Amino acid sequence: MERLSAGFDGIDLMIKRDDGTGLAFGGNKARKLEFIMADALEKGADTIITWAGVQSNWCRQTAAATARLGLQSILVLFRKEGVSIEPDGNLLLDSLFNARVEFVDATADTKMMELAAVADTIGRLEEEVLESGGTPYVASIGGSRVEGSMTEPLGALGYVEAFMEIFRQTSATGDLPDAIVHATGSGSTQAGLLVGAKLLSPKTKIIGVSVSEDEETMSRYVREISDATFDLLETGTRVEEGDVIVLPDYLQEGYGILTREVADAIDLVATTEGILLDPVYTGKAMSGLLDLLGKGVFPEGSSVLFLHSGGTPALFPYRNDLLDHLDR
Ligand SMILES: Cc1ncc(COP(=O)(O)O)c(C=O)c1O
Repeated sequence: MERLSAGFDGIDLMIKRDDGTGLAFGGNKARKLEFIMADALEKGADTIITWAGVQSNWCRQTAAATARLGLQSILVLFRKEGVSIEPDGNLLLDSLFNARVEFVDATADTKMMELAAVADTIGRLEEEVLESGGTPYVASIGGSRVEGSMTEPLGALGYVEAFMEIFRQTSATGDLPDAIVHATGSGSTQAGLLVGAKLLSPKTKIIGVSVSEDEETMSRYVREISDATFDLLETGTRVEEGDVIVLPDYLQEGYGILTREVADAIDLVATTEGILLDPVYTGKAMSGLLDLLGKGVFPEGSSVLFLHSGGTPALFPYRNDLLDHLDR
């Protein structure tokens, strides 16, 4: 990102465009679903059940993948007070992929990442599918937590592969990044990148900007998924002290709440690079990266790669907040 880098002396900023993965407007879930859907097909599933928030990118890309494979999807969506369920953004796309949607009420304290929070509803849906002669597969939110039908952290494998791709691309130009900065939600993308970095390029720090949890909870998610991924790959490696870097401060007012800083980050990247970020994940991660750059956290001569993990369909339901913050 030459024009954005120009604002920060001695820092080379790069971007990995995983918003361009192609499946239903792209995003990080395409790489994860490649492994998860293979597992579901191998287990004979015809219905994928999963859960997340109303404007979930994970659910939208899962619904697209199931449509592509001729399967049915059932999405259990947490609905917090004040969140619109108008068919807009990701929710509109879920409907175009003919997903069956069930809403459940959630509060600020609901631990959305954990199956326990929706176990009753999901248990009932599994029963229904079985009774009608189908075979359900419960994919964990974010695609890596070992829960539901998932006995392995499959989604994280997609990001081990992504790290390998980044390694190949940047080694070829002598630009192997000193740090990769990205949005972390279920810990799955971060875990995959961390496993890849530990195996291929230990100098590369993986920095997750938390968009949903406090530092301790998110770090635990990343550690658990990373260790399970090392086990799956039989590398004999473990996560060590200092490997997991989660920044909780940019969460600010909480998951999905668009602040002035996030709106400004979206605006800056749109106007300097012609690249769209999203209000919930990548805008927040970029606001964190810009703050770190402003504070001079990265030494001169560093190359820093921003992973664009997608999420842009949510720009539309956030239109009013975004325009208010930007005074347009
Ligand atoms: C656009 C976007 N970026 C980042 C994330 C976080 O990824 P992970 O769940 O792997 O931490 C998500 C998760 O929903 C997402 O939708």
